[in-house]
Amino acid sequence: MSIWTDRHVTVVVSGGIASYKALTVIRLLMKQGAQVRVALTAHATEFITPLTFQTLTQQPVVTDEFTMTDPTHVVHVALADWTELMVLVPATANLIAKVAQGLADDVATTTILATTAPKYVIPAMNSHMLANPATVRNIAQLTADGLHVLQPATGMLAEGYRGQGRLPEPEAIVAWLTDQVIDAESDLPLHGKKVLVTAGGTREMIDPVRYISNRSSGKMGYAIALAARAMGAQVTLISTPTALKRPHGVEYIQVTTAAELLTQVTKAFVTTDILVMAAAVSDYRPVAPVDQKIKKQADDAHLTLQLTETTDILKALAAHKQQQFVIGFAAETQNLLANAEQKLAAKKVDLLVANDVSQPGVGFNGDTNQVTLLSPGATPVTTAVLSKAAIAQKVLETALTRGAAGKK
Ligand SMILES: Cc1cc2nc3c(=O)[nH]c(=O)nc-3n(C[C@H](O)[C@H](O)[C@H](O)COP(=O)(O)O)c2cc1C
Repeated sequence: MSIWTDRHVTVVVSGGIASYKALTVIRLLMKQGAQVRVALTAHATEFITPLTFQTLTQQPVVTDEFTMTDPTHVVHVALADWTELMVLVPATANLIAKVAQGLADDVATTTILATTAPKYVIPAMNSHMLANPATVRNIAQLTADGLHVLQPATGMLAEGYRGQGRLPEPEAIVAWLTDQVIDAESDLPLHGKKVLVTAGGTREMIDPVRYISNRSSGKMGYAIALAARAMGAQVTLISTPTALKRPHGVEYIQVTTAAELLTQVTKAFVTTDILVMAAAVSDYRPVAPVDQKIKKQADDAHLTLQLTETTDILKALAAHKQQQFVIGFAAETQNLLANAEQKLAAKKVDLLVANDVSQPGVGFNGDTNQVTLLSPGATPVTTAVLSKAAIAQKVLETALTRGAAGKK
């Protein structure tokens, strides 16, 4: 399930050089489950044919107000009433001016005027058209009227010079729309909650080029961050360097060592509602990392590294928790339940997610996981082997049933 699943989205395309990019926006929305209908201005059809949109959406495309194939309904009203969310992409200077005035002189503008659905406007035009006081005034009017406007990007324009006015890339448009939709959905289970997630394995430096770390890929933490965002939370992800793509819509802080992680988590913890400590934090670090690369010793086959304990971040924070609901992870290779129960009691966490990382398909690096969820006073629940996205969803849902949203 995504925030887009079965959402009725009407995309209004006006006539600009970026009209073709609306196709990718539509494809991305449909890929996430949206039902998309398209209305084109007459000038948009000069740039791209209705047939292309019709084939992509497998729906009739609205281009003409007065050709009524079905006498039982008026085209613009039917489409306006069906619409749950409207996107104007690309929005020409002309379309923006018309909408700012409340004009309804074709099927696109009439549908825009007739719908009560939230409207998202993605302008794209020549930089001088964008900077023209009339356009500036019209965009300000749209914002004042409650429409949401995405700033055009700056870069090379079709005219062959640089400036602001480019249509942002379709992926960035859909990411922006997704963020807007999530923040507007006040009934999402984590709406208004701040979720802090740590991810990845810390690196403890031995010398400038070597470190001690572990096999954590960060995938579980990233999946939790994404799931929390999709459930409406404001998410901060504190991550060690990983091979993963930074999740969109999430505040991202990069750290390397356990000490840096401690500093950042402690800072963010104060205003956090739910902390998810999915990072694999080194228990030990070299006592004294050296400034220069350690050279191979010709006369000695052994090298001794002296290690010292790092701060137990989970324990330290959980001991001072107030409103925070604290979720910890326990990676074990033996006696999963006994070790997890002991950790639950010792660290005073509200929910412990334990996994036996010696099992195939479980824990580090892979795309699947199987976990046992433990909370004080509750019977442990073991999930099936599921995708990390599904496990993330389950962890957060379980946290909610155990009081994560209402903890004061
Ligand atoms: C090749 C070409 C490219 C154009 N690109 C844009 C553009 O990117 N943005 C814009 O606002 N107008 C652009 N225009 C001008 C619009 O097509 C023109 O203002 C038209 O009236 C818009 O009609 P509509 O808003 O009903 O689609 C372009 C025109 C041409 C001929």
